[in-house]
Order: sequence, then structure tokens, then C-alpha cells
Amino acid sequence: MTPLAGQVALISGAAKGIGLATATRLARDGADIVALDLAGSDVSALAAAVAEAGRGLEVVEGDVSTPEGWDAAVAAAVARFGGIDILVNNAGISGPFAPIERYPIEDFDRVMAVNARGSWLGIRACIPELRKRKGRVVNISSTAGLGGPPTISGYTMSKHAVIGLTKMAAMGLAADGIRVNAVCPSPTDTDMMRGLEVGRSDAEARMIRARFEADCPLGRYAAPEEIAAAIAFLAGPESSFVTGAILSVDGGVKAR
Ligand SMILES: NC(=O)c1ccc[n+]([C@@H]2O[C@H](COP(=O)([O-])OP(=O)(O)OC[C@H]3O[C@@H](n4cnc5c(N)ncnc54)[C@H](O)[C@@H]3O)[C@@H](O)[C@H]2O)c1
Repeated sequence: MTPLAGQVALISGAAKGIGLATATRLARDGADIVALDLAGSDVSALAAAVAEAGRGLEVVEGDVSTPEGWDAAVAAAVARFGGIDILVNNAGISGPFAPIERYPIEDFDRVMAVNARGSWLGIRACIPELRKRKGRVVNISSTAGLGGPPTISGYTMSKHAVIGLTKMAAMGLAADGIRVNAVCPSPTDTDMMRGLEVGRSDAEARMIRARFEADCPLGRYAAPEEIAAAIAFLAGPESSFVTGAILSVDGGVKAR
């Protein structure tokens, strides 16, 4: 089954984690992949996965918080594959954990620039190409975009902004046949969550993980592939009447 045969997916932050799982899944579903990730990112796993799926890969080094990064990615997609069918706004950073009065302002600005401005710039840059192909956009928000975790104000605000972006873009682009949806993952087994364990003792690391797992009715972290499956659904033909949707993929976290 290759529901995306002949299509082109531009995925930000595809070098690892959820982005890598998404690139792997969409390539297996038949899409050629354009990956936008930071300069110096290790793309060996990505290259191997896309090659194994028998699809083409174009890697563009750039920062999603800059228009130049997106312009380069769109230009590469058009030059190599002739256009863009799917945009996955996946690149994101967590920023520090601190109460609001001690949260560094420069960290706040950076988290908003990557997660919120970066997603907005991505849609903005891709609209002309998406319009030609009745494209689809999948934005990656978070359960933090639906609630108010108290110590990650930059992340929480940025992921709420992604929800707002999803709804307004879905409304604004529907007449062009472009669908825009968001996925809200709960803690997922990637370097972003593992980063919370860095520099801690084994016991502390286990406790951090156990606390998040206890908060999840299904009692575990998501696998990146489980998030990628939801993204593939929203990027593919099976979701043809879905736009403006905010899909929790969270083991029941937001059912509480
Ligand atoms: N892991 C989780 O628990 C979790 C939960 C909910 C939502 N998310 C969201 O899912 C997305 C992917 O997270 P992940 O866990 O795979 O993260 P990750 O840290 O494993 O990977 C992030 C990728 O994005 C790239 N990236 C970071 N900043 C960038 C920038 N400015 N420009 C271009 N590329 C950049 C990184 O180089 C990396 O390849 C993020 O938006 C994140 O907020 C993650």
C-alpha cells in the first residue's frame, strides 16, 4: 500500500525523533522526502530509512525560525521533486523548566521563534506550492498546547499558538483545497524527553519517567512511530474530510 505514491513531503526536524519516524513512515507510504533540519544534524538514520523505502531524499540545512531556511527548503523541493504535497511542521524545542518569574526571557523568545514562528513561516512559505496540489499541512502541537503545565511557559504558549495557527490556516486555506490539522502528542520516547534525564542519577531519571507514565492512562511514553501513524493519516487520503482538527495522540492523557 503506497497511498502517497508520487507525492512530496517537506518535514522539518526530520533528522531524529518524531520527525525521523514521520519521514520513514511517509516514505514507506510512497512519498519523496525533503528534510529541513539544523546545520550539522546527523541525517544518517534518515538517509538509510528513506533509501530502504526506495524513495528520494533532499536534505536542506536551515533554521525553521528564519524565512531563509524555509525558502531554501521550498526551492529544493521544487527543483528536485517538482513541488510539495505535504508539509509537516515538526521541528520544535522544549526550552527550560522554570516558574514564570525565573524563566529566562531569551529562552522564551527562542522557544516561541522555533515552535510558533517557525510553524507559521513554514505554512507561509509553502502555500504557493500546496495550492497547486490541494496540499495538506500537519502541525505538531502537544498535550502542553491543550493545558497549562506550570513550569514550561514558553513551550506551553508556543504549542497553544500552534493550535491557533492550525485553526486559522484551516479556515483560510479551505477554499484552496488545502487541509490543515494538528497532532498533540503526550510524552514520546525521543531525545526531547530523554533530555530531562541528562545529568541525573539513574534513580532520579527513573522517577521522572515514572511520573509522566503515571499521568498517562495507558501508562507509558508513546513510541515516535505511533505519532507518525497519526501524522500519516492526516497527511493522506483517508482523512479527506478532516481539516482544522486537533488530534490528541496521548494514551488518554487529555481524557482526564
Ligand atoms: N517528545 C515528546 O515527548 C513530544 C511531545 C509532544 C510534542 N512533541 C513535539 O514533537 C516535535 C518533535 O519532537 P521530538 O521529540 O522528535 O524532538 P527531538 O529533539 O528528538 O528532535 C527535534 C528535531 O528538530 C530539529 N530542530 C530543532 N530546532 C530546529 C530549528 N530551529 N530548525 C530546524 N530544525 C530544528 C532537531 O535538530 C531535531 O532533528 C516537536 O515539535 C515537539 O515539541 C514532542
